[in-house]
Amino acid sequence: MNWNIVRLDRVTSTQDVARDNALRGANPGLLIVAKTQTEGRGRHGNDWHSPLGGLYTTAVLRPTGRVSLLPILAGVAVAEAIEASTGIKSELKWPNDVLICGRKVGGVLAESGWLGGETKFVLLGIGVNLNNPPPTEIPHATSLRHELGTMIDIEEFLKILIERLDHHLHFLEEDIDEIIRSWTRLSQTLGEEVEVKENSGEFVRGVAVDIDQDGALVVMNESGRRRVVSGILNRRYS
Ligand code: BTN
Repeated sequence: MNWNIVRLDRVTSTQDVARDNALRGANPGLLIVAKTQTEGRGRHGNDWHSPLGGLYTTAVLRPTGRVSLLPILAGVAVAEAIEASTGIKSELKWPNDVLICGRKVGGVLAESGWLGGETKFVLLGIGVNLNNPPPTEIPHATSLRHELGTMIDIEEFLKILIERLDHHLHFLEEDIDEIIRSWTRLSQTLGEEVEVKENSGEFVRGVAVDIDQDGALVVMNESGRRRVVSGILNRRYS
C-alpha cells in the first residue's frame, strides 16, 4: 500500500476527515492521524474519548477482497504493534476490541461508503490509548502508559502499526485463512461462554467456537451452530 499520512492537530473525528477525502476521490492508503478528536466515536454509537496522548487514525481503503474481515485484521495489527513496541501481550475480544488483562486499550471502527450496491471505500478507524490516562468514562479501560509506567513513542508505534496493517492487507487478497488464524491465536473470545446482543436486539447465548471467513462469530448452543454477524458481546460467568 502506498500510504499517504496526513497529520492534523484537532478534528471532530478522523472518520469525518477521511470520509470527506474519500468522497472527493482520495486514493487508498490515505491515513488521517489526529492528536485529539472532539467527537471521536466508537461502535454502536458510543463515544471514543480522545484526549492528547492517544493514537487516533483512519485509513481510507478501497478493498476488493472480503471487506468484512477488515476490522478483524485491524485488531490483529493493533495487538501485534502493542507487543512489538512494548512487549505486552494483548488479546482480542470479538470482533475487534483490544484488551490487556481484560481492560480495553484499543478499538476499531469500520465504516463503508456504498454506491450501486458496491463498497466504494472503507474507513478503517483505529483508536489506541497510548500515553493518555485510561478514560474514566468507560469501565475497564487502560492505556499503554498506565500498563508500562513509561511513555510510548507515538510515531514509532504508528510506524509498526502501518507495517502490520500492510502485512495483513496483503493476506486479504491472497490468503484470508491466515488472517483468521492470526485472530484466533490472539482471541480472548473463542472457547468462552458468551452472550451476544445482536443488532436486532435478540440475544444469542452459547460457547464461541469459531469465526468464519466473513469474520462472523460462530456460537454453539443446544440449537446448533449460530452465526452472529454483528453485535455486543459479553462473557458469561456462571
Ligand atoms: C470501538 O471500540 O468502539 C471503536 C473505537 C474506534 C475509535 C477510533 S479513533 C480514530 C477513529 N475516529 C473515530 O472517531 N473513531 C475511530
